Amino acid sequence: VDIRDARFVASAMRQDQLPPPAFAEIAFAGRSNVGKSSLINQLVVRRKLVRTSSTPGATRGLLLFRTALAIQRAGKEPQLATLDLVDLPGYGFAKRSKIERRSWGPMIEGYLENRVGLRAVVVIVDVRRGLEDDDRQLLEFLDHIRRPAVLVATKLDKLPASQRMLEVAKIKASAGRPVVGVSSETGDGRDRLWSRLIAAAGI
Ligand code: GTP
Ligand code: MG
Repeated sequence: VDIRDARFVASAMRQDQLPPPAFAEIAFAGRSNVGKSSLINQLVVRRKLVRTSSTPGATRGLLLFRTALAIQRAGKEPQLATLDLVDLPGYGFAKRSKIERRSWGPMIEGYLENRVGLRAVVVIVDVRRGLEDDDRQLLEFLDHIRRPAVLVATKLDKLPASQRMLEVAKIKASAGRPVVGVSSETGDGRDRLWSRLIAAAGI
């Protein structure tokens, strides 16, 4: 994939405040500070499109980014497509205000359940921690509402090279589904993830 353009379109505190769905959309979910926003930046090759932070709770509302892609398939002319990426606030962050914590569930669940055009949800876990209870709950919820999930293990660069494949395989076994290992620091796994996303988005 060649990224022709990537830009911020809108932020919203509720699903119905987002612009009407116009293009295939993929959302990024996971624990607070796991690296959702960094992964979007890595995918679109823009270091600072999305604000990231070492302090959890960086992303507050739903953030919609629009990308223009040139997709290169073997033996074919590049095909132009538009794909929207939605960055979500993380879960499992205790320091958020009570009101914010209470609104997280309905906001995210409402979006995941009702957003027309949402083709898949990237569920991101830290490769060093694997799946935790809230990650499993999210995956179950997505299965239940029949939204395809793409499970990603990130921060591969934090493990010695010799352990990376092993840890990804462990997460795959414990999740019972495929896992794409990536690093937003080095770009490791980026091409494989893009292939999965393009397939999941049906573009
Ligand atoms: P919230 O918006 O607070 O939920 O966080 P987030 O999931 O969007 O995480 P964010 O992208 O802001 O990254 C959190 C921290 O992890 C930042 O300090 C990033 O630099 C770091 N980080 C993210 N991905 C990677 C990675 O692949 N490797 C390394 N080494 N650090 C990473
Ligand atoms: Mg974020």
